[in-house]
Amino acid sequence: MAERRKRVFSGIQPSGVSHIGNYLGAIRNWVAQQESYDNIFCIVNLHALTLPTEPASLHANTITMANTLLAAGIDPQASILFVQGDVREHSELCWLLNSVATFGELRRMTQFKDKSGGAEESVSAALFDYPVLQVADIILYDADLVPVGEDQRQHIELARDVAQRFNRRYGDTFVVPAPDIKANGARIMSLEDPTKKMSKSAGSTGSYIALTDTDSEITKKVKRAVTDSGSEVKATPDKPALTNLLGIYSLLSNTVSRSRVRYAGKGYGALKTDLATIVVDAIRPIREKLLEYEANPDYAASVLAEGAERARSLATPKMEIVRERMGLTGHAIR
Ligand code: AMP
Ligand code: TRP
Repeated sequence: MAERRKRVFSGIQPSGVSHIGNYLGAIRNWVAQQESYDNIFCIVNLHALTLPTEPASLHANTITMANTLLAAGIDPQASILFVQGDVREHSELCWLLNSVATFGELRRMTQFKDKSGGAEESVSAALFDYPVLQVADIILYDADLVPVGEDQRQHIELARDVAQRFNRRYGDTFVVPAPDIKANGARIMSLEDPTKKMSKSAGSTGSYIALTDTDSEITKKVKRAVTDSGSEVKATPDKPALTNLLGIYSLLSNTVSRSRVRYAGKGYGALKTDLATIVVDAIRPIREKLLEYEANPDYAASVLAEGAERARSLATPKMEIVRERMGLTGHAIR
């Protein structure tokens, strides 16, 4: 019998327009591996509720994210693309797994410490519970592999621990997932401060390149990106800004070592000019498709409806098993 194809699950928050950090760290890898796996990609609108959100913008951002993923090359034939809140089993499994994950584990999550910023009295309880919902997302579908950026490693480790603990307590039920974190691209840094990761929430618009930026905006941002002292183009630990720019260069052109040789003696200006062209050429087709999909909202709507249907057909029978294992069924005659 043919071996089951490995299943990939990953999620992305509907945070409006994506940047090249999201693209190079996550989305592009999903697209590149699409044909090799059984894929499920989820727009995690329930996770977005962990921080204050306007209903109207959450709704709009969910659609923007669907269009972005489609524009970047997610193929609804090869992958299930759906919105988390459309499949109620995620919330239910999260609650059940709250009895398996421990308070201590959640307290150790660095993302909670970062996002709560010390304001633990006023942040939502959902922000604290965020990792358990993520565990539920992954193990609900028996995912083998979870392609994410480096910042998500701790959450995937938690998913492994919770799945194993559940299996020991209630019998073998869930596949124990593994992180799929690429050595390159897992951390694209801010163009204004190469010690911080590229992020829409943490920096001014010059710190990131959005997938909707025009050719001239991209060029301007690349040319204004901070550089390191000295003038030699090389990716070394004492040159964090250059390391980041060369990293983006190599990911979009697949030539890191060559770029280092080519720019020897040429200086930062030449690198930035070429990098601007490379980024513009990579982003333009995505931006153009995104605009096309945004002008035709029925397309994403139909993809998401079908995606939710397919996701539900996997989640429903799985939850029946989980409820039964935990002693939650069989008391009422139907
Ligand atoms: P988020 O928008 O935070 O939900 O992130 C979506 C995906 O992009 C996750 O897999 C992140 O790990 C990844 N990601 C976010 N920011 C970066 C970055 N600066 N560099 C690389 N990957 C990133
Ligand atoms: N927490 C992830 C992030 O911020 C998003 C996410 C939610 C996710 N559920 C997931 C990623 C399941 C992978 C698998 O990027």
